[in-house]
Amino acid sequence: MVIKHDPEAQALQALRNEIRKHDQAYYVQDAPLISDAQYDALMHELQKLEAAHPEWITPDSPTQRVGGAPLSSFASIRHAVPMLSLGNAFEEADITAFDKRVTDGLRDAGLLGLADMVEYNCELKLDGLAIGIRYENGVLAHAATRGDGQTGEDVTSNIRTIASVPLRLQGENLPSVFEIRGEVLMNRQDFIKLNQQQDARGEKVFVNPRNAAAGSLRQLDPRITAKRPLRFFAYGWGEISGFTSPLPLTHADMLAWFSQLGFPLAQERRVVKGVHGMLEFYRHVSRVRASLPYEIDGVVYKVNHLAAQQALGFVSRAPRFAVAHKFPAKEVSTKLLGIEVQVGRTGAITPVARLQPVFVGGVTVTNATLHNEDEIRRKDVRIGDTVIVRRAGDVIPEVVRPLPELRPADAREFVMVTACPVCGSAIERLPDEAVSRCSGGLFCAAQRKQSILHAASRKALDIEGLGEKIVDQLVDQGWVHSLADLYRLSVEKIMGLERMGRKSAENLVNAIEKSKQVELSRLIYALGIRHVGETTARDLASYFGSMTALMQASEEELLKVTEVGPVVSGSIRRFFAEQHNQDVIADLLQVGVQPKQLEKSQNDTLAGNTFVLTGTLPTWSREEAGKLIMEAGGKVSGSVSKKTSYVVAGDDAGSKLEKARQLGVNVIDEDQLRRMLGLS
Ligand code: IVH
Repeated sequence: MVIKHDPEAQALQALRNEIRKHDQAYYVQDAPLISDAQYDALMHELQKLEAAHPEWITPDSPTQRVGGAPLSSFASIRHAVPMLSLGNAFEEADITAFDKRVTDGLRDAGLLGLADMVEYNCELKLDGLAIGIRYENGVLAHAATRGDGQTGEDVTSNIRTIASVPLRLQGENLPSVFEIRGEVLMNRQDFIKLNQQQDARGEKVFVNPRNAAAGSLRQLDPRITAKRPLRFFAYGWGEISGFTSPLPLTHADMLAWFSQLGFPLAQERRVVKGVHGMLEFYRHVSRVRASLPYEIDGVVYKVNHLAAQQALGFVSRAPRFAVAHKFPAKEVSTKLLGIEVQVGRTGAITPVARLQPVFVGGVTVTNATLHNEDEIRRKDVRIGDTVIVRRAGDVIPEVVRPLPELRPADAREFVMVTACPVCGSAIERLPDEAVSRCSGGLFCAAQRKQSILHAASRKALDIEGLGEKIVDQLVDQGWVHSLADLYRLSVEKIMGLERMGRKSAENLVNAIEKSKQVELSRLIYALGIRHVGETTARDLASYFGSMTALMQASEEELLKVTEVGPVVSGSIRRFFAEQHNQDVIADLLQVGVQPKQLEKSQNDTLAGNTFVLTGTLPTWSREEAGKLIMEAGGKVSGSVSKKTSYVVAGDDAGSKLEKARQLGVNVIDEDQLRRMLGLS
């Protein structure tokens, strides 16, 4: 802002600085200098001055944290520097291996003497959400979630409400662009308090602090976020440019600089040497973990010298210079009350353990998967047993093993049902399969529901708003027997469903209507033919060009398609041989579904070439790379054969790369692909 020599303007500036100083003391140093009442008085004073001179209000004023109306959705922001993730390690041997990779790498690069040990900066692995916050000329400009690493959601208005995030960087000499990265989280105490308040108001309670933080940050109304006790801790950075001073030389010094700029750092940081130092830190943190104010799920080791970090570079989407040493998955014991079965889209029957509710890994678990019948026998799990249940991160909880010493006399063995619990059809188990299936096909309401959900999913017909609750009702009401019935639903009918207003019903009907114009490959995928995934569906669409041609294809012809072998062709033939499947397709065309072949691309640089993508590419996702190849007229296949022209291999490429080498297929990397596409 223009510096005014007006005493009031100067008073205003001084007040702002004073408030920023107290924000720092409170949130960053954790050492308040004044009472809350005194702080409120300063803020009130500032608000009064600004009310008298609205023309002096700037976005970085402490009064301007909450502003703006609710959004209808988040915009996306492309990260100037991709936001990567970390490789995981669980055991000491993984850390030894990590240190060896780093040490060897640095010796090769001439950055480490033969006898030297590598220096690591050790930090907590905070269990929240990764955020990047961009400052332009010292003022907060944008903030984005990690998203897929390349693009995230624009959560600027929400991040501004977090009191520990400075709206303006402190100090004089500042980079013109500065992106800080770190974690947004909620302290355990704050989380408990928030849930009590939510409960008292009859509002949603959150399962754990991380979900509470995520839910609060992804609020479309920043005024709600402002009321949530979120915190931010810095641990990294993205773009830093337009800086005249040299950058610090180590990670630890970068963090010290961030603290001077006004960012809070998490406690328990330590610079150590070698494996011994890292493991000692891990043991120390394991001991103090329970007394930390927030949840962590491990520790992170980062090579301290930035030149060394740079020399080591990146593998796939994670740096070679850092690793997350995770705490073991949480395990608890509880009672297995019963085993029920669920029916999936293909009729697969999954036994599910009903458990006495138990708190594990931050959530209350009441059921867990038991995979299949053989697994239950192998583990010798019986109904009535006390069992060990494990939950690692976001993974579905599973029953690890029973405690036979606690087995009651009346514990029962599980007996697989012989009739489907949903439709009563016989349950079959093919000799070479581990899974039992309901033989009812689309006669079975469970399979019908699942197949409609699959057809509506994003990669298929992409019908927004057609979720589980609605499909359940549509099928249970008897309004939808087959996919085509969706296109006969009216706004009035949908309004008859639970909690459906006119607006949502109209939106749903519009979304269904829109899906009539669908790419042929998506429609093929939507049919849910066994073994026909997205890629095969695409291959089939581009080979046959129409639904009719595909339906009439002989085995021999099907086998000519890159992706298709005897199992897949058999499955396709069986599907189309069924009269009711033929009827559904005829019916779909009848109600106006118009599959269209993807427009042949004008660009035919890669025409006639088939690519297989494998491993993790450094910057593109496999989907992105696949799309670019197809746009250039090439084909993408999921498996390597003699017909494959190129295998594009990223990191951790496994059996496909192996096969390419055996067959003598050309193997290229992302850079070479980029050049073939004429993009570099
Ligand atoms: S560094 C290039 N440091 O862990 C490396 N990440 O698995 C970028 N996380 O998405 C991350 N604490 O959400 C780093 N001290 C820490 C961290 C940390 C938590 C999270 C972060 C990231 C994920 C990576």
